[in-house]
Amino acid sequence: MHIVLVLGGYGFFGSRICQELATDAGIRLLVAGRDRQKAVSLAGGLGLDAAQALALDAQAPDLASRLAALGVNTVIHTAGPFQGQAYGVAEAAIAAGANYIDLADGRDFVAGIERLDAAARARGVYVTSGASSLPALSSAVVDRYLPRFSRLESIRHGIGSGARAPGLATMRGVFGYCGKPFQRFEDGRWRVVWGWLDLRRYRFPAPVGARLLGNLDVPDLVLFPQRYPGVRTVTFQAGFAGATGHLFVWVAAWLTRLHVLPGLAALANPLHAMSEWLEPWISDKGGMFVSLEGIGTGGEKLKLDWHLVAAQNHGPFIPCGASIALARKLARGDILPHGAFPCVGQLTVEDYLSALRAFDIRELPA
Ligand SMILES: NC(=O)c1ccc[n+]([C@@H]2O[C@H](COP(=O)([O-])OP(=O)(O)OC[C@H]3O[C@@H](n4cnc5c(N)ncnc54)[C@H](OP(=O)(O)O)[C@@H]3O)[C@@H](O)[C@H]2O)c1
Repeated sequence: MHIVLVLGGYGFFGSRICQELATDAGIRLLVAGRDRQKAVSLAGGLGLDAAQALALDAQAPDLASRLAALGVNTVIHTAGPFQGQAYGVAEAAIAAGANYIDLADGRDFVAGIERLDAAARARGVYVTSGASSLPALSSAVVDRYLPRFSRLESIRHGIGSGARAPGLATMRGVFGYCGKPFQRFEDGRWRVVWGWLDLRRYRFPAPVGARLLGNLDVPDLVLFPQRYPGVRTVTFQAGFAGATGHLFVWVAAWLTRLHVLPGLAALANPLHAMSEWLEPWISDKGGMFVSLEGIGTGGEKLKLDWHLVAAQNHGPFIPCGASIALARKLARGDILPHGAFPCVGQLTVEDYLSALRAFDIRELPA
């Protein structure tokens, strides 16, 4: 049995990953977080025994020896926010001889994982960061369509979420840069934009419809200009299912940019609670798009639009697809490279979506 430990295993995304991996015959799942009672309760609901629920702190100085004593083969780290986090969990996994997969969306965190490359190679383990919608799925989509371009010039992508609010770690991460400046590559040069500003309306295919979007600071903004040389523009925007909630964040972003507010991070808890109350009144549908523009192989102008649409509040399973697919590959004994890499080029779109077959999630290829 391949032992997979999910750190943050009863969190919003962690619990969904556990739900899927619990049914895997080749995997013995361990659910971990700082609160053992919550781990026991989740494990019980999944039909696991209490011994598969653990109190484990990502910051614990003895994390490596605990992982080794448990015989963990693969750690899935969901205990964000990752923005500003150190690589302690990945280092502990490497020291314990375990593979490591995280769901990070912190730009510097994901891009910087390569500093563990030598250690991961020496220990013979697979280490990857950003195994989630971004950049794992987004890069898989670009890789799929790249051969249709002689010159890919722009990658514009985004996500419109459904009503179900993600966990606190996600909200703290994405509100952390609300109204704050960051760099984005546009028209061949780096320029400053502000988190959650540049309000725009994007029409997703049915059943999602039109959504308001704003700027997010994600790993793709720094990884894609390196991975796809010649690309002159990379943008990413996201938005909430409810227009009122989105406009509230947009106003807060402006007030932060104008130094009237210090930011929105401190309000993550009440905003999270509010979005849970509002869930029944908001659309349960969400989507993702990747829009590619450039010159086709025949010299013609080419624009390709790829979409993923989700209903019945199944959208929150989308960020879980990469870690589920990678854990299954490792459990099956598929050969994954030793070393530490941002999660780009690690999975195909088909690999990714194979982990989401049970859900109301539909791909609309370009
Ligand atoms: N790259 C992408 O496309 C993408 C998309 C979506 C989400 N994400 C990432 O997913 C991460 C998880 O989000 P979420 O919505 O699931 O958050 P969440 O519901 O708040 O879950 C975080 C979990 O981590 C646990 N945790 C926190 N600190 C811990 C520590 N020191 N040691 C052990 N466990 C700890 C929490 O439980 P306790 O507090 O009880 O320990 C909780 O179970 C976010 O940080 C976000 O970056 C990435």
